[in-house]
Amino acid sequence: MESLNPINYKRIVILTGAGISAESGIQTFRDSGGLWENYPVEEVATPDAFHRDPHKVWRFYSHRRHQAGLATPNRAHEALVDFAQKINPHLFLITQNVDYLHQRAGGDILSPHCMHGSLHQSRCTACQKVHLDDIVYYDESGRFNPKHSGLFSTLPTNALTVENLKISEELPLSPCCHELLRPHIVWFGEVPFHLEEIFRRLEHCELFISIGTSGQVYPAAGFLQTAKSHGARTVLINQEAHHHNPYVDQFLEGKAGEVVPKFFKTT
Ligand code: OAD
Repeated sequence: MESLNPINYKRIVILTGAGISAESGIQTFRDSGGLWENYPVEEVATPDAFHRDPHKVWRFYSHRRHQAGLATPNRAHEALVDFAQKINPHLFLITQNVDYLHQRAGGDILSPHCMHGSLHQSRCTACQKVHLDDIVYYDESGRFNPKHSGLFSTLPTNALTVENLKISEELPLSPCCHELLRPHIVWFGEVPFHLEEIFRRLEHCELFISIGTSGQVYPAAGFLQTAKSHGARTVLINQEAHHHNPYVDQFLEGKAGEVVPKFFKTT
């Protein structure tokens, strides 16, 4: 195994998954006690599920907004911001996470590419316009009881507000068309966002780093191999020892909150 130092590389691409937010208190998907254990994917995270039972899907995403609103960025999120600020402002950050923690740690510096969408946005099902929206529509007991999650430190002036909300049958309507709003999340069977730009970066990157993802969901699961096949060095950071992967040049085992600040140290 090699020992790579990110300071020596200019074109860096980072992919993060649920593991980077675990120490902030956000549930991962596939670890024991993970989200998919209690909420079957086909009931809450597919277009069909939303069509069949939009209340149930909004309950699930209300729960996730609630959880994300209580969380704060951890040392791993902060280390990436620090590295971008002091060493390499051109880091290209791709996240599968929708928890808004990279943005809260320093979104202006990192501008993460949220390939699976984000909890701080909703989309009109008629015209597809995206709206800033952090409202938790259903409380933790499942009752329709809209309140802000606190994802935004200050509510942007163009965000949806509880006061101005349009509702029909305990479901939120878009301010643009007065049609049903859906979470701006990529569900199973839908195409992730920013893929063109992501593949362009993967083909030209010198160092690719994957942090806290199980590598079970494509296309993200194939990014490391794509970068490697275009000549990048590759680093995998995960709390679980990985099975031998011929595309990984360096594996760092441990919690993201400990390993990431060490790997991206700026002094
Ligand atoms: P998973 O839950 O599949 O995997 C989380 C990974 O993080 C596992 O490999 C854990 O070993 C690792 N991990 C957990 N805690 C960690 C820690 N503190 N430090 C480092 N690693 C840790 O989550 P993802 O791989 O992100 O998609 O899942 C990918 C996609 O599947 C998600 O974006 C979501 C899900 O279905 C959609 O909802 C579209």
